[in-house]
Amino acid sequence: MQLITSITEMQQLADKTRNLGYKIGVVPTMGYLHEGHLSLIRLAKQNSDFVITTIFVNPTQFAPNEDFEQYPRDLNRDLAMCQAEEVDVVFAPETSAMYNSNFLTYVNVEKITSKLEGKFRPTHFRGVTTVVAKLFNITKPHIAVFGQKDAQQALVIKKMVKDLNFDIQILIGPTVRETDGLAMSSRNVYLKNDERKNATILYQSLKFAETEILNGETDIEKIKSTMEKMILEKKIFTIDYISFNDAETLDDLSIAHPNKSILISLAVRTGTVRLIDNIMVKR
Ligand code: PAJ
Repeated sequence: MQLITSITEMQQLADKTRNLGYKIGVVPTMGYLHEGHLSLIRLAKQNSDFVITTIFVNPTQFAPNEDFEQYPRDLNRDLAMCQAEEVDVVFAPETSAMYNSNFLTYVNVEKITSKLEGKFRPTHFRGVTTVVAKLFNITKPHIAVFGQKDAQQALVIKKMVKDLNFDIQILIGPTVRETDGLAMSSRNVYLKNDERKNATILYQSLKFAETEILNGETDIEKIKSTMEKMILEKKIFTIDYISFNDAETLDDLSIAHPNKSILISLAVRTGTVRLIDNIMVKR
């Protein structure tokens, strides 16, 4: 496995790999890897010949009041995990290489970025699409793998790829969870003991909603109000949103139509930690 920090060196190796006829798969991450990331690496390996994992804590997707400085980082641990998965290259650039002092260009997907996460983090997706577009131009992949854990991010990236004609196939891997249901996240290390224990309510409330819909309940407000009760009963959470949306357009839904796929997503805060999770009810 090779560690590359230089953008030019990464581009040259990507060109060489393509010229040899290999299919490149990229897995963009912000590091502090866990099983969720590793599952995406395995999916990339199954669907390409040469796997690049990028590790870059991207400052432009964090607002000034967010956790950019505190975001957990451990490159050596990440490198060992990538090596064990037989990743071919880890690309881990310096911030100054990705964003020099003259940086002026941003990629912005409209409309679908102003709801859900975008309502609470208005500059977030502009940072995500900008860095992902840059990483695509640097690693030159045939395929790129993202997680369903960040469902809106996956949709936004697919839209960017379509609208800007990136010749890249996007694959989405399922959410990997702890045995008690909590979705794995690099941010889970922030959780204190009782917060960690109570955080299982998030997935439980999503499963409750899924079961209700599959059993024929169509009144979304009714389901939502039970979910709120379940979460607020724990006393330690505040809710940013619980939302039921069309899984493709992200249009808000108030009735669960029996033939529409529904994305049920939520974001809550406890202490200084913000957690998101979602479930897709497929039709
Ligand atoms: P990060 O939070 O490190 O996540 C990297 C990728 O792993 C994303 O596609 C995310 O959806 C996926 N992921 C996270 N937790 C997961 C889980 N429990 N199961 C399955 N997949 C999971 O998302 C980002 O970084 C950044 O926004 C990035 C796309 C790298 C741009 O900076």
